[in-house]
Amino acid sequence: MNLQRLESLVKDSDRGYFITIEGQDGAGKSSNIEAILNVLKKHDINFVTTREPGGTELGEVLRGVLLGSNSTYTGSISDMSELLLVFAARAQHLDQVIVPALEQGTWVVCDRFTDATFAYQGGGRNMGSETIERLQELVQGPLKPDMTVLLDVPVQVGEDRAGARSKPDRFELENIEFKQKVRDAYLKLANDEPNRVKLVNANNDLETVQGDVAQLTHQFIADRT
Ligand code: TMP
Repeated sequence: MNLQRLESLVKDSDRGYFITIEGQDGAGKSSNIEAILNVLKKHDINFVTTREPGGTELGEVLRGVLLGSNSTYTGSISDMSELLLVFAARAQHLDQVIVPALEQGTWVVCDRFTDATFAYQGGGRNMGSETIERLQELVQGPLKPDMTVLLDVPVQVGEDRAGARSKPDRFELENIEFKQKVRDAYLKLANDEPNRVKLVNANNDLETVQGDVAQLTHQFIADRT
């Protein structure tokens, strides 16, 4: 993706807004993304929903490799390969889905984005933030989500909820220390960028959490219209 195109996009006042939802596995992203979409529908906002890794044909293949569900490749993945695969999927996603939609004035609601890289690869895999910041600059230029909803639960709660679902993926199979580092890295992002990353206590009943997520979305729209 051409840097100039990304730079003009972020300056374009008619562009769509970019909302992401994040959290450890088991935090409740799937149930809460609906709360965001319902608010956008109430406001008659045009949007697309997508996910990372994935969102394109290539991205979905890379997702399978990264999550260990692609039968063509089930071998090991080095930490640096993992990081670059995540960004390869992201570059394709920006090119084919995210940037064209935002340019047309369509909002994009994405299940995970680069904050997940800071949390999982930066925190979980101990890769730190410097390399990720360089790749972020290279792949996204100045484009970042306009609002990120971060669902936070204690590690054991996420572990129990995710464990109650289907077969664990390559990240869910990691130990509790990995998951604690993921949570800590997410909390650091919320602390460093409070205007963008909105922390939601997801260790509550679903209705309360969905209410909080809806409220944040209403507020985001009210601040911009
Ligand atoms: P999920 O979207 O179904 O939650 O699963 C995606 C998994 O991929 C999740 O365990 C987090 C992981 N992931 C990364 O490790 N780095 C990334 O940059 C992204 C987007 C996801």
